Amino acid sequence: MKLTDRVEAARRDGPLHKLDKKAGNGIVSASKAVTDVVLQPSTNASAEPEAQAPTPEPAPIPAPPVDPLAELKERAAQELFGRIGTRLNDPSLSEEQLHTYARAELGSIVSAEQVPLSPEERTRLIAEIGADVLGFGPLEALLDDVAVTEIMVNGHEQIFVERDGRLSRSAARFTSEAQLRRVIERIVSKVGRRIDESSPLVDARLADGSRVNAIIPPLAVDGSSLTIRKFAREPFTVNDLVGFGTLSAEMAQVLDACVKAKLNIIVSGGTGTGKTTLLNVLSAYIPSDERIITIEDAVELQLQQDHVIRLESRPANIEGKGEVTIRDLVRNSLRMRPDRIVIGECRGGESLDMLQAMNTGHEGSISTVHSNSPRDAIARLETLVLMAGMDLPLRAIREQISSAIDVIIQITRLKDGTRRVTHVTEVQGMEGDIVTLQDAFVFDYSAGVDEAGRLLGHAVATGVRPRFADKFRDLGIPLSPSVFQANLVTRSQR
Ligand SMILES: Nc1ncnc2c1ncn2[C@@H]1O[C@H](COP(=O)(O)OP(=O)(O)OP(=O)(O)O)[C@@H](O)[C@H]1O
Ligand SMILES: [Mg+2]
Repeated sequence: MKLTDRVEAARRDGPLHKLDKKAGNGIVSASKAVTDVVLQPSTNASAEPEAQAPTPEPAPIPAPPVDPLAELKERAAQELFGRIGTRLNDPSLSEEQLHTYARAELGSIVSAEQVPLSPEERTRLIAEIGADVLGFGPLEALLDDVAVTEIMVNGHEQIFVERDGRLSRSAARFTSEAQLRRVIERIVSKVGRRIDESSPLVDARLADGSRVNAIIPPLAVDGSSLTIRKFAREPFTVNDLVGFGTLSAEMAQVLDACVKAKLNIIVSGGTGTGKTTLLNVLSAYIPSDERIITIEDAVELQLQQDHVIRLESRPANIEGKGEVTIRDLVRNSLRMRPDRIVIGECRGGESLDMLQAMNTGHEGSISTVHSNSPRDAIARLETLVLMAGMDLPLRAIREQISSAIDVIIQITRLKDGTRRVTHVTEVQGMEGDIVTLQDAFVFDYSAGVDEAGRLLGHAVATGVRPRFADKFRDLGIPLSPSVFQANLVTRSQR
């Protein structure tokens, strides 16, 4: 079917038609059965000829189904707000106490409305208003849907979700900007933060660990925007990643050996490519008798070892005081007798401290940087080191980088939506002013795509045996030298 036909078909069978009329109500309008309209077919492999067609206009947004009780609900929700007031964000009240209190109040509000309601309607009404006022409104269903990995709210009418690496528009929506703001306030107040015109952007976390960023007008020009990276309840393991085709079993063995041999590793990748996930998988290879210190902006890593100290940075408070940066934590961690330092992401001056630590006996450190290729990762690290404000000459910075970092693992989100390791690259040293890199594995794009547009390639060995393999041998880490031989993963084996 042509792309335009597919979009047309999606329009016809779109969310409006699939809305569960019972659950659809304008406040909690997302039915889990709703299949979202895929609006980004351009993420398909370009090898698909029809994907070349001009991108069609987005499908029109279905109007929320009319709920006869909508007005009553809005009134009751407002009334409930008025009654519970500050208690909503009172940390001394448990969730259960709050719910019991709110349910009782709601019961009396609904009775006072004197609208004839069947017992079922009454129960549904109370549950839905409860979800709006005490929960996350239309986000509840998306948060419960395990297939959804990311939720992006762009103003109250537009919610995008990511499933299986693809973005699609959800039929769920907020009834108003005010409702969206209530949900945002509820999320941020739970972690002791506030959001208002004087501090209009906030990072927070849901109780289940999901990472949240909220930004409100006037900074978000078209209405409040909320981005939720859902926390994987069961973090991905290396077997999951091998199963997804992110890396091959042979590469997993190499990465295991790299971690055990205490090489300093950088995972490089763009936004949302799976850097943190891969960092978590790599960290799982750290032997359990080592003392691990993790340092993150918002804790995401889920290490299984016993001996782990987790540190989290802290933003400044409303008076601009009390900030503790990743850099402060990296420096502090050096005084905590670490065997391994795992830094969630290098995005500032802490990079210099990390490189120095790596060069002064704290081997086996692992971190991530935001960059699109191994070469780019070096350039990015140079820039980040400059942010430390030490005024170091570029050559000195490059020397630090080349002697500190042993391996760069590049992860990329490909056109088909899958995340793949595209390079395992050794940092060999310096030649003149240039840091020399040597790929051990690179992604084989020549393998083409399957009928579904999924790339068939894997990262394959380049045939160059990295120098770090000597370290495996010296340390007695078993790894067959054949893994580095070219053509080990031939197309017939895939
Ligand atoms: N190999 C993978 N295959 C499929 N999905 C993955 C893979 N790795 C990560 N994901 C999913 O992709 C999303 C982003 O993952 P992750 O947080 O690891 O990315 P990131 O590169 O650290 O993002 P950011 O740049 O925002 O820090 C998550 O929802 C995660 O579950
Ligand atoms: Mg990350």
